[in-house]
Amino acid sequence: MRVLCGSTSKSLADDLAKLLDTECIQATVKRFPDGEGYVRFEQESLEKEAIIVQNSYPDSNFVELLLLHDAARGLGVEKVTCVIPYFGYARQDRRFNTGEALSAQVMLRHLAVEADRVITVDLHKPDILRWFPKPGVKDVTAAPAIGHYFSDKGIDLVLAPDKGASQRAAEVAHVIGCDNDHLTKTRLSGTEVKITPSKVDARGKKVLIVDDIISTGGTIVAATNELKRLGALKVCAACTHGLFVSGALERLNTVCDQVLSTNTLESPVSKISVAEEISKAL
Ligand code: R5P
Repeated sequence: MRVLCGSTSKSLADDLAKLLDTECIQATVKRFPDGEGYVRFEQESLEKEAIIVQNSYPDSNFVELLLLHDAARGLGVEKVTCVIPYFGYARQDRRFNTGEALSAQVMLRHLAVEADRVITVDLHKPDILRWFPKPGVKDVTAAPAIGHYFSDKGIDLVLAPDKGASQRAAEVAHVIGCDNDHLTKTRLSGTEVKITPSKVDARGKKVLIVDDIISTGGTIVAATNELKRLGALKVCAACTHGLFVSGALERLNTVCDQVLSTNTLESPVSKISVAEEISKAL
């Protein structure tokens, strides 16, 4: 079973192919002058089963994902396991206001037209996978990979920026063998968050903040400022999905001692591979 990939997640697809002792085939991906996508696997044929690794974010990559499936099927693939390292629209998991689209459900329903199985990584709410109407769905956690990376980096405390992320912080701390705790976060707007003054014991400690997503960086900046106020010696931040929009990485580098993400989205700091976790799920 070979690993096929498009224009996203190339390094992850390569890592995965190595672990599975198979070949990674990258599609030729082009854009027509009007912006429409084009994909082609330059092969004569493929085996009956394949793994496709491709992000569904931003929107154009979701279209590319569907095209990759069709290109593979045209070469003889009958069963596709689709690995979506960063699944876009996962956060719109309900109709928060009347008249809104239930985006996560829409994406999974349309994905099921092409894919037979789906593997995702650290979905904001893994429960959304119930909307993929076929058996064989799995959300894998990047916590062991993040924990292993930091296990020899002298971390004293792993912190979640809010209670909802505390299970992840506990898993990372367990791998490192240190304490964990959480802060309390209130979201004020898409870019602003407030961290409630905390009694977390951070004085003189090297603290690692872990979250599923860093988008604008507002959460990590506010959490880091609170930890510095509490006397933390060093503050590192790690996330599964580094979106780093609107110059977030540059802003974070001015307040944090280190910022890292996994390779579900490629960036200059995507140094932690989740290939092993995905290969176990496969
Ligand atoms: C939200 O609940 C997520 O877990 C992240 O904390 C959030 O997406 C981070 O966004 P930002 O970097 O814009 O604060």
